[in-house]
Amino acid sequence: MAKFLVTGGAGFIGGNFLHTMVRRYPEDEWVCLDALTYAGNMETLEPIMDLPNFKFVHANICDRERVFKLFEEEHFDYVINFAAESHVDRSIENPGIFLQTNVIGTQTLMDACRKYGIKRYHQVSTDEVYGDLPLDRPDLFFTEETPIHASSPYSASKAAADLLVLAYHRTFGLPCTISRCSNNYGPYQFPEKLIPLMIQKAQRGEPLPVYGTGENVRDWLYVGDHNNAIDLIVRRGRDGEIYNIGGHNERTNLDVVKTILRALGKSEDAITFVKDRPGHDRRYAMDPTKIEKELGWRPTYTFETGIIPTIKWNLDNSQWISHVESGEYQLWMRRYAEK
Ligand code: NAD
Ligand code: TYD
Repeated sequence: MAKFLVTGGAGFIGGNFLHTMVRRYPEDEWVCLDALTYAGNMETLEPIMDLPNFKFVHANICDRERVFKLFEEEHFDYVINFAAESHVDRSIENPGIFLQTNVIGTQTLMDACRKYGIKRYHQVSTDEVYGDLPLDRPDLFFTEETPIHASSPYSASKAAADLLVLAYHRTFGLPCTISRCSNNYGPYQFPEKLIPLMIQKAQRGEPLPVYGTGENVRDWLYVGDHNNAIDLIVRRGRDGEIYNIGGHNERTNLDVVKTILRALGKSEDAITFVKDRPGHDRRYAMDPTKIEKELGWRPTYTFETGIIPTIKWNLDNSQWISHVESGEYQLWMRRYAEK
């Protein structure tokens, strides 16, 4: 029996993680800490809210006093940090909150781990810390040895956090692991990210805004496969190690959008090419050999098998979508569209 702190569990990946793990490990106790920013939603936690081994705490990972008090009360064995500002476009508009949450929040959690003791701190990171790869070199992949070379304020803040985690391991001996995953998709993803945004827009008959030429490549992984990898790393990974996670599912943005339109029976005429994202990374592609060999991880979904339930979930859950699309999100979309 162990006690887990999962931060950012009211968001997309953390929410899916908790749905699976709270049930997979009924003997373990699961505490979710989340600030409920625009990206966090209590409705995401509804399926597990009443389970006896689950508890929700509304707090900010940067709130040192609150975080330390929680650690003192709960005596966590494991901390898994999903909490982050996660959208690149927002980081271009307002970098400050990314540094605050993604860097200072990580430091705060690790300071609490040092003070109260834990078996392992796990940092959920991203392939974006490696920067990008050229489009004309499909033979190149990110490995754990690829130098950090972040492009956006988002990826720079995640890279800074990763460096801090490694420094806390080396300097203070904090037991920790880092996972770096490629782009995720699946249920409960906030509809500002490419796949759910395009599903919503296609359904509503609105134009589908593809940045630049649509040739940028992302390496798509179904969220459940990412979470199974994190579960393996937290329980069986080696301290101080980084693990890349990806399933070799590279697609251009245009391919992704066309796949969605085809699945929905909609015309490609809705595709609209818009101004490119500043500093837009060209290609991400992960080499997951280390986690496959060391921990026996394998993805269970291909892009083709994962996109169908994802589209279906988005169509079947219009209430969840309309709730998360209210309030602050509307303001952001209006401001962003005016730029
Ligand atoms: P998300 O934006 O959907 O969710 C983030 C969650 O963190 C929300 O519930 C939000 O309320 C919470 N949060 C934000 N700031 C907080 C704070 N200061 N204190 C406490 N809670 C706070 O993000 P996601 O897509 O689920 O990503 C989760 C993690 O995975 C992030 O660390 C992200 O960098 C990483 N990641 C994401 C992807 C992807 O494709 N989405 C890929 C690789 C890695
Ligand atoms: P996104 O989902 O924001 O993830 P990330 O930037 O972290 O990879 O975007 C995925 C890709 O889709 C990225 O190349 C930018 C592109 N994109 C568009 O073309 N149009 C959009 O409206 C959005 C949100 C993204």
